[in-house]
Amino acid sequence: MNDGNSSENDCQRHNTHNNKVATRNFHLFNTKEVDESWSFVEYKPSDTGKWTHGYHRYPAKFIPQLVERLFDEYISHTDAQINDPFMGCGTTIVTAISRGFKAYGTDINKVACLITKVKSTSIEPQYLNKKISQLLSSLNDPQVTLFDDKIEPLIPQKHLDRINYWFTEENKNELGKILRVIYNEDDKIIRDFFLVAFSHILKSCSIWLQGSTKPTRDLKKNPVNPYDALRRHLNKMQRGNYALHNVVPANVRENIDKYLNIKIGDARKQPAPDNSVDLIVSSSPYVTSYEYADLHQLSTIWLDLAEDLTEYKKEFIGTSYKKHENKRLRSLIAMDIVDKMSKKSKKMAKEIEAFFIDMEEVFEESFRILKHGGRCCYIIGDTKLKGVDIINAEVFAESLQYSGFKLDRIIKREIPSKILPQKRDERTGRFASNHEANSEAYPIEYIVIGFKE
Ligand SMILES: C[S@@+](CC[C@H](N)C(=O)[O-])C[C@H]1O[C@@H](n2cnc3c(N)ncnc32)[C@H](O)[C@@H]1O
Repeated sequence: MNDGNSSENDCQRHNTHNNKVATRNFHLFNTKEVDESWSFVEYKPSDTGKWTHGYHRYPAKFIPQLVERLFDEYISHTDAQINDPFMGCGTTIVTAISRGFKAYGTDINKVACLITKVKSTSIEPQYLNKKISQLLSSLNDPQVTLFDDKIEPLIPQKHLDRINYWFTEENKNELGKILRVIYNEDDKIIRDFFLVAFSHILKSCSIWLQGSTKPTRDLKKNPVNPYDALRRHLNKMQRGNYALHNVVPANVRENIDKYLNIKIGDARKQPAPDNSVDLIVSSSPYVTSYEYADLHQLSTIWLDLAEDLTEYKKEFIGTSYKKHENKRLRSLIAMDIVDKMSKKSKKMAKEIEAFFIDMEEVFEESFRILKHGGRCCYIIGDTKLKGVDIINAEVFAESLQYSGFKLDRIIKREIPSKILPQKRDERTGRFASNHEANSEAYPIEYIVIGFKE
């Protein structure tokens, strides 16, 4: 019977339930010890960059060993289905393919999707060697040398002012010629492989300040020669491909389209049916930290991946270009953070609110696609912005429960400094390289694991 007060009663019940969840979370996180076995300090860069993991730099990527251990602990059958809604450069996806699992995922960043696809698709090594030699010799052929006018540079005219901003005239023309020759390649798998190499070398061939995570020019920089950088990087990728080819099961290599189900798109819409996925391993963006669209702008403009850069940026979760007017947060911990921040900066409070609302929607989608008995593992650190503690992990743990998950496990790990940046610019909240930062970022992070009963 409706007594006219049911929505008020529902609301009170919901708040009491939320209060219990929020209080329990605080307790769990405060008392948690660091588990050193999850820091992976013993691994060298050659281990963390094994197979195709060295194809392309990517900010805040995690290491394959962490994904492997989660697979070891939670997957016990050979035909598993794995998902990562924020693929980045594909650490989870490549690891899934290496074990013969089906991999589903999204990233809104078009460069990320290209990198993930290429990193997961191993190529028959001899064929690849032949194609690389052909590319390099056609660029180096005295008849069509890069330094005369026989190849017409392919320079996206739409973004010419940005390209002129970042590249010297000489490198611009040489890169344009390389791109022209790459686009002449008919085999799409090979062409994409070359495009990833091309994308990777752009920063060192430009006047982008070395090591900077913000788009900053260094007018004194001596940019690397594109042909040399390409040749060196293709050699490295060739070795990576060989190593991956040796571990991916033959039936997966030969039917990669059946195993690799990834698309450019939003984390709230996964290319996976209801109740189909065994395990999700993902690390979300952080609020106002990296602006991925800005960071990959050199690749985006050269590969002509976005019609309108400003509109493109708004689709990224955690970006400062976004706010929600008509949606409400469920997490009490998040509301408290937003309240505290609004006393310091209304704008930043709105950005944080939008981030946590977006993540609540991502968790709903994770719940939809997971099988009963499946788990989602979200890797996230806490941070501080304008003096306010942004306890992301606590909010994630709370929000996962509102989406229907049981909070299964929290792993607290230390991040060895060689793997992730540990500094932030206190004023903007953005990640910064160690010499330009003034605040600790995430020396500690959590793996928050939800279980779908
Ligand atoms: C921390 S990174 C993931 C790194 C990844 N774990 C790896 O190892 O490379 C977060 C990713 O979220 C992506 N992202 C941001 N907004 C998104 C959205 N709305 N939908 C899907 N992906 C998004 C970013 O482009 C970025 O690649």
